[in-house]
Amino acid sequence: MTHTRITIICENRAHMARDIMGEHGFAALIKTPDTCLLMDTGQGLGLAHNAKAMKIDLAALDGVVISHGHFDHTGGLMQIPARERPLPIHAHPDLFAAKYVMPKGEPPTYIGIPFSQTALEETINARFEFHSDFTEIAPGVFFSGQVPRTWSFEPSDDRLVTETSDGFVPDPFKDDASLLIETPTGPVILTGCAHSGIVNIMEHFAQKTGHQTFSAVIGGTHLGFVNDPAQLEQAMDAFDKFKVRTIAVSHCTGNEAAARLFHRFKDRFAFAGAGWHMDF
Ligand SMILES: [Fe+2]
Ligand SMILES: [Fe+2]
Repeated sequence: MTHTRITIICENRAHMARDIMGEHGFAALIKTPDTCLLMDTGQGLGLAHNAKAMKIDLAALDGVVISHGHFDHTGGLMQIPARERPLPIHAHPDLFAAKYVMPKGEPPTYIGIPFSQTALEETINARFEFHSDFTEIAPGVFFSGQVPRTWSFEPSDDRLVTETSDGFVPDPFKDDASLLIETPTGPVILTGCAHSGIVNIMEHFAQKTGHQTFSAVIGGTHLGFVNDPAQLEQAMDAFDKFKVRTIAVSHCTGNEAAARLFHRFKDRFAFAGAGWHMDF
């Protein structure tokens, strides 16, 4: 392949395609002329099924990137066929933090990664490569590392907590990572849930790479969980500031925010469901 293709394998909704199933989760394949990477794995319901339907060979991956430790991004890891050569898995060192959801007045429910590091190493021959900082993990593919919280208007979702020796505290989401992929039509940002804030992520990549415009932003934006409508407006203004040509949202963007994004961006908007792809 001489170009880059991004294909959504798992997402909450099935794109118009045969034999694809939806699930609450996210997984995307990044195929560049140099490498083939899987970012996230869904929660484990649809990865193998959808990959087979799309003729994607999970045994041929050069590596996996995990955007953060939530089960709906990590639960499919064990569906990747075991093989003799180790499978590099790129993630932030906090990937295995104990993550819970705790809506006000309710007990916490575990929503973190459902496997231990050892189980993944022994079962699918995983070789973890942890990065706290911005790192090139393959030619032209950059892992964000920890994203600084620059914009005070992008607070964390306060239902999401992590268990520490001091009890349950708001999840700082140090592990929330995204990718920047250099393509012939410009840089493309691929996010998992964008827990660190979609504007923070764009600003971080701009600061690290010097890019002032992005060809596309694809993936979860977490804009579906925004309490203040001004935050969605500011995110939309940032898509314009960075002249993002395609805003292809998924997953935790939710229906209402997606509808508002479509209303504003029209031809620049796409919904990236399972089975959807885009070439660059
Ligand atoms: Fe998610
Ligand atoms: Fe998440």
